[in-house]
Amino acid sequence: MVTPWITVNGKEIPISQDAPHTSVLDFLRERGLTGTKEGCAEGECGACSVLVARPGVNKPTDWVAVNACLLPAAALDGQEVVTSEGLATAGAPGTPPTLHPVQEEMAVRGGSQCGYCTPGFVCSMAAEYYRPDRCAHAPADPAGSTDPEHGPNGFDLHALSGNLCRCTGYRPIRDAAFAVGAPTGEDPLAQRREQSPPEPVATAYTRDDSAFLRPGTLAEALQVLGERPEAVVVAGSTDWGVEVNIRSRRARCVVAVDRLPELRELHVASDRIEIGAALTLTEIERRLDGSVPLLAELFPQFASRLVRNSATLGGNLGTGSPIGDSPPVLLALEASVVLTGADGEREVPLAEYFTGYRQSVRRPGELIRAVRIPLPLSPVTAFHKIAKRRFDDISSVAVAFALDIEDGIVRKARIGLGGVAATPIRALATEAALEGEPWTAQTVEAAARTLRAQGTPMDDHRASAEYRSAMLGQSLPKLYAQTTEAVSS
Ligand code: FES
Ligand code: FES
Repeated sequence: MVTPWITVNGKEIPISQDAPHTSVLDFLRERGLTGTKEGCAEGECGACSVLVARPGVNKPTDWVAVNACLLPAAALDGQEVVTSEGLATAGAPGTPPTLHPVQEEMAVRGGSQCGYCTPGFVCSMAAEYYRPDRCAHAPADPAGSTDPEHGPNGFDLHALSGNLCRCTGYRPIRDAAFAVGAPTGEDPLAQRREQSPPEPVATAYTRDDSAFLRPGTLAEALQVLGERPEAVVVAGSTDWGVEVNIRSRRARCVVAVDRLPELRELHVASDRIEIGAALTLTEIERRLDGSVPLLAELFPQFASRLVRNSATLGGNLGTGSPIGDSPPVLLALEASVVLTGADGEREVPLAEYFTGYRQSVRRPGELIRAVRIPLPLSPVTAFHKIAKRRFDDISSVAVAFALDIEDGIVRKARIGLGGVAATPIRALATEAALEGEPWTAQTVEAAARTLRAQGTPMDDHRASAEYRSAMLGQSLPKLYAQTTEAVSS
């Protein structure tokens, strides 16, 4: 067995004596890199944020911030990581290192008090600092800008949406983010973006009867899954990592599929868009660049930037969760799932994919290869996520609409719902109540009563069944108000 290793702050560190489930966070801390902190161990606080060199969208390499608590160290075999310790540059012997520009701004603007969250913040901030098109998105007239979430330097505050600070308060942190300039030409991490990132490495790491496997090809992955049907398939590990950390679940075999080229393609044809199941949500967001408005509305509400940098559509569908954020949207878009297995490929409409609570038609040994969205898209779309917090929260209820309205008549209606049944569902009765009817307040009022009664919502710690039904009932009038406001403005 070849010993896996990770390049951390420029030094190759072998992965040895670590269990296959050992997180990147524990791997780093056990080797003295204790700047990376554990706050929640479930992807919600960002104290563990580190930078990973990944295939870039606009340059060969992007520095991408990820939650080190969720990712197994073995998943980064052969990859490059930079921690908060690696951001500062070493000075002459006997002199302190020079702070990185984001560290400097955090220090001088009072962005750190107890400092526990700070290494995570500076890593997330550094990823946005190095985003190649950041400065191109700076407002032309910074003084006249009314956008509170984008700085005069183009800094998108959503880059920090996965980082929590309990004592400083966010204003000084925002000040620091909005004060950073552009990387200089000598900046080694800026220079690193011009070269390709490390290739994925086929990995077979086994200790104490458990294994982390990264097959090199799709054929190998399908073979492994055929031989080991009990294997847990992971992509970004944003779901499985929580199971490992919080529920102490262990798998005899974990198979990583997130770097398989066949699962990382994105094609736009005249009649459909095909999105690889292992592209991260951030990659999809940046590559589609708003061309699917309903997805563009979904992404900012789907967890945090840190999670979206690892999470995939394949993972969100593969878990079969009834409260995943992408299924309602994909149902409204009439998407289908491309499954691939030893017997070949098959395409299943997403509306027929879920069969029960966390169950689907995916057979043992099959992988989700891609998601297909038919074109043309319906022009009137909206995604309403009801959650306790605006960002970085789990839905109580999610509703996605895709409507064709021509000459004031609803020609076609597709509505996807999450959080109101054991599976994500289409609101078929509401769709029927809308189709062929005039898009008027009366139609909407009647259809909203139907929508309110759809699904079988239940009481749980997030919301009561009654509240969930009430939110369904509110959703259609809200969409109507949005469309009529858009027409009258
Ligand atoms: Fe909180 Fe990782 S420790 S997100
Ligand atoms: Fe104390 Fe952020 S500085 S938690």
